[in-house]
Amino acid sequence: MDLGFGGEVAGFYQRYRRGYPAEVIDALVSAFGLTRDDVVLDLGCGTGQLALPIADRVRAVIGMDPEPDMLAEARRVAADRTNISWMAGADTDVPVVGSLLGKASLGAVTVGQALHWMDHDSLFQSLRPLLRPGGGVAVVTNGSPLWLQDSTWSQALRRYLELWLDSEVAATCGTDEDSQTRYSESLAAAGFTVGRTDFHYEDELDLDRIIGGVYSALPVNLLPPLEQRSYFAKQVGRALEGHAPYHEQIDVIVLTGTR
Ligand SMILES: C[S@@+](CC[C@H](N)C(=O)[O-])C[C@H]1O[C@@H](n2cnc3c(N)ncnc32)[C@H](O)[C@@H]1O
Repeated sequence: MDLGFGGEVAGFYQRYRRGYPAEVIDALVSAFGLTRDDVVLDLGCGTGQLALPIADRVRAVIGMDPEPDMLAEARRVAADRTNISWMAGADTDVPVVGSLLGKASLGAVTVGQALHWMDHDSLFQSLRPLLRPGGGVAVVTNGSPLWLQDSTWSQALRRYLELWLDSEVAATCGTDEDSQTRYSESLAAAGFTVGRTDFHYEDELDLDRIIGGVYSALPVNLLPPLEQRSYFAKQVGRALEGHAPYHEQIDVIVLTGTR
């Protein structure tokens, strides 16, 4: 199924999507006692926002994603890295990875801002036997969508996007509290011990980062056509006039399920 992460969107994703603060990587390492002996599977790796920093701390990372263009971008930025292997695959391919690697072979499985695309109940069940004792699953959010922030610039952005797209843009992409509750209950039902750590920071955006962020989050078929991009950018600028500075509040939630 095409989820719209291909083509130009992969390039925008690589260029504009923020990575994760060092404290988040430290929290993952500490939650699962990750060492240089461990292998980590980063599922829904996109262009490597989590896979790359985790690879600095463990023996090897498998970055897995069903979108070849995302993987191509990840490969390009990680050309000099020798301990990440980029593999095409989805959550439903985890049992195959298990057959390949064997039981208790993984220190952790991380899912950064991608679980909402997956069948999390089946995934957590199928992951458990692949994790070594003390290892686990981490479900990580990376801030709510730019147009769902609690600020006037974000509300203005949302109004303009809804006008442009002629539809509501309300999906929280798994960043909301209801999703955290569902994921926690699902981890517990699969036999994991659940923990949670929250991180918060603020960043100031400019118009280029806001527009790039929007392009990185739209399905490729909804990107403004090339010839309309400068008009789109001008209209976003106009919609946001008077609302600067554009402070973004970023909440990173790390849900852990330890085996
Ligand atoms: C929003 S991006 C997240 C990328 C990166 N992990 C991050 O933290 O920024 C979501 C990714 O999930 C991938 N994805 C979508 N459905 C998936 C599935 N069923 N199994 C694994 N990955 C999936 C998409 O191709 C996309 O690269």
